[in-house]
Amino acid sequence: LEQQILTTLREDLSVSEDALTSAVSAGLITEATRPEFGDYQSNVALVLAKKLKTKPRDLAQRFSDALYGRPAVQQVLAPIEIAGPGFVNFRLSDSWVLGELSRMHQDRDGRLAIPTASPRERVVIDYSSPNIAKEMHVGHLRSTIIGDALARVLDFLGHDVVRLNHVGDWGTQFGMLISQLKDVQPDVIEQEGASASSVAISDLVAFYKEAKKRFDEDEAFQERSRNEVVKLQSGDPASLKAWRILCDISRKEFGEVYEMLGIQGLEERGESFYNPFLKDVVKELEDRKLSEESQGAKCVFLDPRNEDGSSSGRPPVIVQKSDGGFMYSTTDLAAIKHRVWTERADRVLYVVDQGQSSHFSSVFEVAKKAGFANDKAKLTHVPFGLVLGEDGKKFKTRSGDTVKLRDLLNEAVRLADEDLQERQKEDSEAQPWPDEERTRTATVIGLASVKYADLSMNRESNYQFSYSKMLSRTGNTAPYMLYALVRIKGIRRKAQANTQQHDKDKDMDKDAPTSTTTALVLTSPAESSLMRHLLKFPRVIQGVADTLYPHKLCEHLFELSQLFNQFYETCPVVNVEDAAVRASRTAICEVTERVLQVGLDLLGIQEVERL
Ligand code: ARG
Repeated sequence: LEQQILTTLREDLSVSEDALTSAVSAGLITEATRPEFGDYQSNVALVLAKKLKTKPRDLAQRFSDALYGRPAVQQVLAPIEIAGPGFVNFRLSDSWVLGELSRMHQDRDGRLAIPTASPRERVVIDYSSPNIAKEMHVGHLRSTIIGDALARVLDFLGHDVVRLNHVGDWGTQFGMLISQLKDVQPDVIEQEGASASSVAISDLVAFYKEAKKRFDEDEAFQERSRNEVVKLQSGDPASLKAWRILCDISRKEFGEVYEMLGIQGLEERGESFYNPFLKDVVKELEDRKLSEESQGAKCVFLDPRNEDGSSSGRPPVIVQKSDGGFMYSTTDLAAIKHRVWTERADRVLYVVDQGQSSHFSSVFEVAKKAGFANDKAKLTHVPFGLVLGEDGKKFKTRSGDTVKLRDLLNEAVRLADEDLQERQKEDSEAQPWPDEERTRTATVIGLASVKYADLSMNRESNYQFSYSKMLSRTGNTAPYMLYALVRIKGIRRKAQANTQQHDKDKDMDKDAPTSTTTALVLTSPAESSLMRHLLKFPRVIQGVADTLYPHKLCEHLFELSQLFNQFYETCPVVNVEDAAVRASRTAICEVTERVLQVGLDLLGIQEVERL
């Protein structure tokens, strides 16, 4: 429709390119704010009237006549209406709505006739990315949940998605960790075939704290730790072995969280992977005269320098310290080069907290200047806000420690299970629910709740972590959505069973070919609203891929289940006499069910059979 509007303005109304640009930037078409205004509305007449020296209403009339004169438009829209000072209101024609919906319904691949994207892009998504020997914290949880949802959406649209876990597995902290390991468990390093399981470290984070304490207090230990870094960098076998053991311990812990969350296809490519390339990165920056010495360090200044050598604007990007050590930024520059030139990515997304925005914008700028990135590859930081406790402060346990992710997820599951048991007790007519099955359901609900609470918020805002809110059955929550799906499924099953019964009563020939296409009919306003909403789903998915905001998908699904309720209140499905109407309404239930299923799956949320 946008294209048709543009052509109409350009060809039929001879609007200048200049004026067109301003109309486009004002937005050619928006969703209608109220149902009585139709489905979409356009303000072009108001925007362009002055430029064309006509009255907005006259222009609106000429514009809508010309637009509706186009056969392609007539197929999609009901006659166009003009309102107020010159608003143009569009209403999708019922025949078009029914046709499109029936295309969605008939898609046997289960993807609701949503086309795959063209061109197909190669998209690298850098997400999760916790640090070895440190706690995987709620920030990493957000990155994991949001990154996974975006990966699923892009993958669904047919893009070639590479999921990379940029684990912090390299750097000076390993000096003290290795020294500490050598001190407390010297035998392990010498032992043939030693692995993570040979090491008696129950809590790597406590181990890290212990090492840090010694590093700060004991000079000899500090000295040895510095040497360890050099040894590790130069590939000393014993140091490498110790490093590998430490990484494995963390890896196991991260793996448990990924397993619980159902994260799949995430490839570990940590900072250490880029270590061999760092020297060349620094050399290239020097050769291109991009980096300069500043207090012994090699830096890239993005803004002019003051007389005293400091930056007049943003701080410089340090790529090598005076002691020769490389930086977080150096690794990111090497990673960009690798992703753009070796991985041949068209898009690289970094799902990392908002606090790193200036890091990424500077690093992207350096990468472009140095040719590590090219015009073809789009680098995007996908920032997100903080997770806060219910008190609005930083998320902590009651004793003030950081919350372990495994504990946090387990608690959500425990509370979900408690709730299910409660309900079971209250409802005397409920069928008995075997423990094993109930626990399985609680696991899905608990994890879904944590994910959905995160995804349903605009990712850029901070959000308050509240078990009671996320587990509530009312409002825009996972339990509400899961319940909506269970209910629709039940209605759909009953309607189908009823139809079979009717057919049997009529003694129809069982072997007679059943028609595969259901003719859809529109019988009421609530039905019409539901249908129109269902048709928006493909655009919503595309919108998430473009804007990288998963909450738009949550909003769409939430609204969908509300519209379904309104439909179901006024339009009986199971017991409606007219077979054609029953078939049509059953089909609408099927499409709604499928949209919810696909939508939740794209959010990384599993279904439940009962709730
Ligand atoms: N490990 C980092 C952290 O915990 C996140 C890494 C993000 N990815 C990147 N390419 N810098 O803050």
